[in-house]
Amino acid sequence: MSSTVLSLSNVSKRYGDFTAVNRINLSIPKGSVYGFLGPNGAGKTTTIRMILDIIRPDEGEIEVLGCKSAMQVRDRIGYLPEEKGLYKKMKVWAIISYFATLKGIHRKDAKLRAFELLEQYGLKDFANSTVESLSKGMGQKVQVLSSIAHNPELVILDEPFSGLDPVNQEVLEQLIRDLKNNGQTVIFSTHIMQHAERLCERLLLITQGSKVFDGTVDEARAIIPRRVILECQNDVMALADLEGVLSVSETFVGGEGRIPGTRQWELYVKEHTNPQLILQHCFQNGISLSRFDFTQTSLHDVFVHLVGQEAREHNFR
Ligand SMILES: Nc1ncnc2c1ncn2[C@@H]1O[C@H](COP(=O)(O)OP(=O)(O)OP(=O)(O)O)[C@@H](O)[C@H]1O
Ligand SMILES: [Mg+2]
Repeated sequence: MSSTVLSLSNVSKRYGDFTAVNRINLSIPKGSVYGFLGPNGAGKTTTIRMILDIIRPDEGEIEVLGCKSAMQVRDRIGYLPEEKGLYKKMKVWAIISYFATLKGIHRKDAKLRAFELLEQYGLKDFANSTVESLSKGMGQKVQVLSSIAHNPELVILDEPFSGLDPVNQEVLEQLIRDLKNNGQTVIFSTHIMQHAERLCERLLLITQGSKVFDGTVDEARAIIPRRVILECQNDVMALADLEGVLSVSETFVGGEGRIPGTRQWELYVKEHTNPQLILQHCFQNGISLSRFDFTQTSLHDVFVHLVGQEAREHNFR
């Protein structure tokens, strides 16, 4: 059996003269948590809708769970659309149960499953409330539960975190981890890099309809050099001669909380540079550091780097 649950080859979507999605290739391994990232209008929702066969690509091939159309395997897929909304008059447990029955789960089992999910994800006390009495965020949680109640092999969530408070964002993160631990494959779109950073093994980054990156989070981080911040009273330009150090420059921002008389330096180093080399140099040269930050490159920095670059390339055309 193939370990790929979803593949896109050369998939494009045009609206008139405008290309919303441009020749995207992608392969999503079974059991992975996959993030779709990109700025507003990048083409994430359009791609998701094509995967689900809600809209047809103008060119290219999509294969979902071994089939040419998601419609053929709809009971094995769970989907949270970008525009959220549920039947307002129904009770919370009943709506979750109803969605599960639509996907082939027996009524009795669906009801049990609804109560189980509500208990597990902190909504037990709302089981008998009507949807219209829920806050927006709680309604959204209920909709997420409705989309996974039938235990789908592939779960696709379009902006599941938007509108959730920090506590419920954590609950949703846990839900996604639970799905993964259960062997299910999860694709979600987001603008919030931290969710992708914490949850995803792999990501797709698109901008203006085109793929600018797909791969693991570590591969994404390796795209740009790591940054080191130092604070001390000395000039440390000599660090530029150390192995792995790409550049050293003094920065004049973020003075708050800095010890008076200290200077701040920014170093860019190669991905696998050993920070001990920098510390050793400082120690041997009598440089006393009041700050030493050797943090991991954030996805945010990678995102800005790649999306900025793409934007520049477009401007040059
Ligand atoms: N039905 C349509 N007709 C015309 N243009 C469309 C249509 N649907 C989407 N587009 C355009 O395609 C582009 C991609 O839209 P899409 O909704 O896929 O972006 P997105 O990455 O999901 O953005 P967001 O982060 O804002 O949700 C946008 O420029 C959008 O205006
Ligand atoms: Mg969208």
